[in-house]
Parts: sequence; C-alpha cells; structure tokens
Amino acid sequence: MTEAKDDRNQAAAKHFQDTAASWSDRYIDTHGLSHSFLIRRQAVEWQLARLPSSMHERALDLGCGTGPYLGILARLAREVVGIDVAPAMIEEAKHNLQPGLDNVTLAVASVFDLPFPESHFDVGVCVGVLEYFNDPLTVMRAAFRVIRPGGSVVFTVPNAFGISRLTGLPRTLTLLVPPRWKITVGAIWDRMRGREPNPSRYYLGASFTLSQVHRLCAKAGLEVTRATTSGYDGLRFVGLPLPARLGSAVERLGEARRFNFPWKVIGNNLIVTIRKPSPNT
Ligand SMILES: C[S@@+](CC[C@H](N)C(=O)[O-])C[C@H]1O[C@@H](n2cnc3c(N)ncnc32)[C@H](O)[C@@H]1O
Repeated sequence: MTEAKDDRNQAAAKHFQDTAASWSDRYIDTHGLSHSFLIRRQAVEWQLARLPSSMHERALDLGCGTGPYLGILARLAREVVGIDVAPAMIEEAKHNLQPGLDNVTLAVASVFDLPFPESHFDVGVCVGVLEYFNDPLTVMRAAFRVIRPGGSVVFTVPNAFGISRLTGLPRTLTLLVPPRWKITVGAIWDRMRGREPNPSRYYLGASFTLSQVHRLCAKAGLEVTRATTSGYDGLRFVGLPLPARLGSAVERLGEARRFNFPWKVIGNNLIVTIRKPSPNT
C-alpha cells in the first residue's frame, strides 16, 4: 500500500498537524496523560540501553513528533535524525531541542518515502506511530530499508490486551472495528448523528497483540529481540470508573512487577525491540 491509498494514515497526519502545538504537554508532569507517556519513555530507554552496543554512529526517530526522544538518542549516537510527516510537529521539535544538541537534524518526511540510502542507520525508535497505518507491514519494510543489517529499532504500539482496553467498555468495542474500516465506520456514525464526518476525531490508532507483532516481523524478515509492556492506568469495571485508589494501587503494583505474569501481558503499551538480521548471525 502507498501513502496515497492509506486514508487512515492521512487522517492521522492531519490530526497530528492540528494538535502539534499541545502535543509536548503530555510530557509535562502536571498533564493528565503525562504518567503513561513518561512511563512509556522510560520503558523505551530501558530497551535502548540493553542493545548490544552502547554507542552508535547514526540514530533515527521515525515519527518524532515534538521530539521527546531526541535527547535520549543524542546520548546514544553521534548523529541523530528525527523525521515526521507533520510540518507542525517538526517546527515544535525544533523549538524544543535542548541547546547544545548539535548532532540532531530534523526533517519533514513520511516513512513511506524516507530520504536516506539503504542501511544508513544503526538504531532507531518509532514510538506511537505504527498504529496509524492500514498496512503496518509496508511501513516496517520501508523503515527497515534504512536500517543496517544487525541494527535495531524500538517500536511501541498500543497493546490489545492492555488493562485500559480490556476494561474500558464502550471504547473497547472500537477494537471490534477492523482498523482499515475505522474511517468508513466513523463517517457512518457521524452521519447517523447528523454531524459532518470528521476522521481526525475517530479512534485512529489500532492496537496489536504481541503475536501480531511477531507475525508482522516474520513476514518482513525481521526478529523480535525483546518485548515488554508499560502503563497500567485506565482500570475500569465494564467501562465504569472505579475508585481512584483502587486504580492507583493496580498501577503501582503493575509498575513494580512489570516483568511478572500477568503484568507483563496487560500493560497498555507493547514495547518491542526489532532487529534486522545480519548475514553473520
Ligand atoms: C502519537 S504521535 C507520537 C510522536 C512521538 N513519537 C512521541 O512519542 O511523542 C505519532 C506521530 O507519527 C507521525 N506520523 C504519522 N504518520 C506518519 C508518516 N506517514 N510518516 C512519518 N510520521 C508520521 C505523526 O505526525 C505524529 O507526530
């Protein structure tokens, strides 16, 4: 599938272009969503720190948004490039760049059409991006074209078995809509309610099971080398809010025990290191 045919990715790109100005707020402690965003970033950093090499030549942030991962990559690689399809995100990322990070370059580009030669990067992150495409396999192949054999990318995607999705009815029901139908179903729903269809309001992101990620990687000739989950907020009882204390107790326990069953299965995000095999391994 090409960019032109991916209606969900186009709607997502518009959504992110429109929301770029407030996106960084999610990484500020006082924002309602910051907890899960900061926890997810720690989990990604943890996986990056466990790659076989601790210093890399070139790192890529795919769908870098306002740049919350650029500082981490700049400590791991001599050269860092952040790309995003939304020009407003790249503007925000430039604005947010810490002074002195002179090894970071930013560019507007789509993962469908990365302006780099094959095998250019050693390492990468792709956080909260893969869920916005109808055909994630094409995206994986396009992303790994520019990663060298033996190189790895840490991906995050929403976990279909995440605690907020398992317990969050009626939002959970949107899981029953196949991702590529979301735009059509959303437009029908809007029209039924007498509204003008607005795709950027629909739940554009898909969620994945770990088995799906493994299957995708197998088809793309890639291997999953590490998988964890993160984030235990959003506990509900068939959609109804539970006492806040219960929610935070579950969350604290999850974060303390994230490598034990069942916590390692029900975190809201899957964090997965994916490697491009090298001929010598
Ligand atoms: C949920 S945001 C995540 C941003 C950032 N990685 C973070 O963790 O805060 C998803 C990002 O993916 C970008 N994106 C969506 N489609 C893309 C595409 N085809 N190529 C590159 N970036 C894309 C969006 O513009 C947006 O900035």
